[in-house]
Amino acid sequence: MNDPLSMNDEDVDAYKFFGMGAKNYGEQYQANDLAKLYPEHVFRLKIFLNLLSAIQPDRMLDIGCGCGLPLLAFLREGYNADGFDYSNEMIEQTKQLLLSNDLDPARVSRNNMEKIEGISPGFYDCIVGLGSLYYSRNFSATISQISDLLPKGGDFIFSLRNELFSLFSQNSYTSDFFLKKLIPSTSLTPGLKTRLASFLDDKFSLSTATKKFLTIDEQKIFSLYHNPLTVEKDVLAPAGFALKGIYYYHYHALPPEFEHSDTEEFRRLSCEFENPTDWRGMFMSSSFVVHAVKTE
Ligand SMILES: C[S@@+](CC[C@H](N)C(=O)[O-])C[C@H]1O[C@@H](n2cnc3c(N)ncnc32)[C@H](O)[C@@H]1O
Repeated sequence: MNDPLSMNDEDVDAYKFFGMGAKNYGEQYQANDLAKLYPEHVFRLKIFLNLLSAIQPDRMLDIGCGCGLPLLAFLREGYNADGFDYSNEMIEQTKQLLLSNDLDPARVSRNNMEKIEGISPGFYDCIVGLGSLYYSRNFSATISQISDLLPKGGDFIFSLRNELFSLFSQNSYTSDFFLKKLIPSTSLTPGLKTRLASFLDDKFSLSTATKKFLTIDEQKIFSLYHNPLTVEKDVLAPAGFALKGIYYYHYHALPPEFEHSDTEEFRRLSCEFENPTDWRGMFMSSSFVVHAVKTE
């Protein structure tokens, strides 16, 4: 798939970036204060747990399990779950977390989602990825490898970043989406191209206030965005998956710029929006969960 908002070769690999912050990664799961953090992980986990409860997998694998908090939640729910990550620091955090909860630290191991080794096809009947798959530099090959590991009828549940949110965000992502996905920019005459660029810049350039806040994207980690309208055709079908459902989370009740000026109100209203199947999620949520089933 063509990924207009993906970064370039100078970007940092996600496992290196997240590995550097592994010790403190779990903190985002602890804050309940809306003024400090938005609890999108709570809404995301609920979606995963609801789907798993309907599926009741025999054995599941969490790809890019990070410091292991979602893995711990799966184990606490009684699922036979293992996880892997490519960052040694994250693996160490997960091992500690499992040990401190009287769980087997061998449930986490090191593996690279872009070149998965040592797992027999069919060993897991359900594979999940929370906030990890879109960091793959070779996304379609990664999805195909995951498909190869699952038996026919196996479930694959993973979160993606919502490219259509660009239309609601009213910032540089909006102009990028217009220029790279909607308008036939490469066919425009140079004069029109220049006027268009300045038109979009006027409408969507970030305010000075917003520029003060460094987002995760500005830290130059390689990552991808996906369109929920085309994910079945572009991502799933080529790897032998059928789409079972799409579930939206991390709603933004207003364009993100307002989160900086009106933090609590912004987040309180956004929480009220959180409904995984509301059509508005297609535009107002920055992430979505895909539930796919292997067909071949
Ligand atoms: C945003 S964190 C999410 C962690 C965890 N799934 C969660 O939701 O808390 C992304 C994770 O993907 C891992 N990761 C990145 N590239 C990877 C790769 N090639 N193979 C395995 N894990 C990878 C990172 O090390 C990091 O732990």
